[in-house]
Amino acid sequence: YVVDKGNHRHFMEKEIYEQPEVISHALSHYVDFAANTISPNASAIDFKAATGLAISACGTAYLAGLIGKYWFERYARLPVEIDVASEFRYREMPLQPSQAALFISQSGETADTLASLRYCKDNGLKIGAVVNVRESTIARESDAVFPIMAGPEIGVASTKAFTCQLAVLASLAIGAGRARGTISADDEKPMVRHLAEMPRIMSRVLNLIQPQMEGLSRELSKCKDVLYLGRGTSFPLAMEGALKLKEISYIHAEGYAAGELKHGPIALIDENMPVIVIAPYDRFFEKTVSNMQEVAARGGRIIFITDENGAAASKLPTMATITLPNVDEIISPMIFSLPIQLLAYHTAVFMGTDVDQPRNLAKSVTVE
Ligand code: G6P
Repeated sequence: YVVDKGNHRHFMEKEIYEQPEVISHALSHYVDFAANTISPNASAIDFKAATGLAISACGTAYLAGLIGKYWFERYARLPVEIDVASEFRYREMPLQPSQAALFISQSGETADTLASLRYCKDNGLKIGAVVNVRESTIARESDAVFPIMAGPEIGVASTKAFTCQLAVLASLAIGAGRARGTISADDEKPMVRHLAEMPRIMSRVLNLIQPQMEGLSRELSKCKDVLYLGRGTSFPLAMEGALKLKEISYIHAEGYAAGELKHGPIALIDENMPVIVIAPYDRFFEKTVSNMQEVAARGGRIIFITDENGAAASKLPTMATITLPNVDEIISPMIFSLPIQLLAYHTAVFMGTDVDQPRNLAKSVTVE
């Protein structure tokens, strides 16, 4: 199996542009497109009987898990306990055999994630693995394997694996909601339809925003620090944006819950530190905009990542506004991942770093 870059400069770029295609593959495994329902593949774990869900992972996979937590709690009313695997494995948290556990890992070989899995297994929990590599150790040691079907990911900074993990977690959460009776058959259909539309919207967005992201990366490459803000599922996305930028451009970046701005990071705001605000026009929009106002009032420069409704609703001056199409909230984390990935990618390219093999990082961390 030969993996090459095709017409792309880097594997990372290729993998970003592959997302519409691989997400389709992932969805076809979990969605019955004809019936607009989640398929039985998503119910290999008995979410109906589960009294709670423990999730653990590292790096980007952990941030996918954090978004999954919002979904499982909201749509399936299933309480979620989540932590980075290096903490999870040593916390000695009390667990019940009636809980289920999910481990998310692109490689399926991350040492800390595997140790967390074994901790849960020892406590009698049913284990599900959301993995890209189906022959991996984590997959082998699990009761149920949920493949993300992203194909080989070569770039050290994860892109397509992240959005495929999200697509799978969204499907599992909807499936869990159906099993637990917290989502009706009538609610399920439109949610699944939105998932099915996602690949097409992703293609459109990738083409739409590429030139603007390239232009903005020149500005970002001059900065020493960048702050990302978001609420709800946009909060883990803010952390993912910061992680992506620091991994490949070596610019210091932090992702914060927008509501925490005034508890610390606001002290850093000046004209030298751009603030990237991720705010789809959702039920948190007004609150996030009021945080943006606090940034603007202190001379902070804002890069506003929003949708058409959000762009129309905010009158605040920004350094740049990235306007995505209006999409349903179930798919917005995947769609909003795209500008975040491209911004990090182009900034790194502009700075001339080794995008696919950033210094000191490994694709798979098999030691503690
Ligand atoms: C490394 C990689 C990251 C990845 C993390 C977890 O840090 O550089 O891209 O998110 O490990 O890896 P996994 O294979 O478990 O998803």
